[in-house]
Amino acid sequence: MKTIKVRDKEFELFIREEEINKSIDRVAKQIESELKDENPLFICVLNGSFMFASELMKRINIPCEITFVRVSSYDGTQSTGQLKEVYGLEMEVENRTIVIVEDIVDTGNTMKMMLKQFDRLNPKSIKIATLLFKPKALLHPNLRLEYVAMEIPSDFIVGYGLDYDGHGRNYPDIYKIKK
Ligand code: IMP
Ligand code: MG
Repeated sequence: MKTIKVRDKEFELFIREEEINKSIDRVAKQIESELKDENPLFICVLNGSFMFASELMKRINIPCEITFVRVSSYDGTQSTGQLKEVYGLEMEVENRTIVIVEDIVDTGNTMKMMLKQFDRLNPKSIKIATLLFKPKALLHPNLRLEYVAMEIPSDFIVGYGLDYDGHGRNYPDIYKIKK
């Protein structure tokens, strides 16, 4: 089993790029068919979603716009619960169908906070597209995730945009922490 070291921790190969891309193909088709008449605005959450956002957007052939915002809630390998604000949104979202593009939904705290902030701007609707979802870690059972590429167990992972202390985002495969 292929392993890598990121900072002080060992990680083992968990999901290969080919499998990730297949799951993105599926989600992209779903988005295309459901939002083809909506001229959606994709709001990609930096830094984590950059690889997913890029692979997803290459597969979506409908009129749309793409923009980027930032927000961070993680410190090391545990959700801190200390949420910062969403910043960097320069697009008008009123009466628009927006799709938040995230790398992962873990506790769901970040997503809940973003939904609250975007809701104030009166969009027509808000959808969520996430590469990964850890259903067992979710603290908000009523959070609706329209487009989920892959569901995974609660283990900490890196790669494909996801980091441990800022490192490991560059790997094209996903690795999980070794116990
Ligand atoms: P939540 O607020 O607990 O849902 O956490 C969401 C954010 O935490 C994501 O956008 C990621 O940046 C980060 N995160 C959650 N799980 C992991 C992980 O396994 N590896 C790296 N980052 C993670
Ligand atoms: Mg993130």
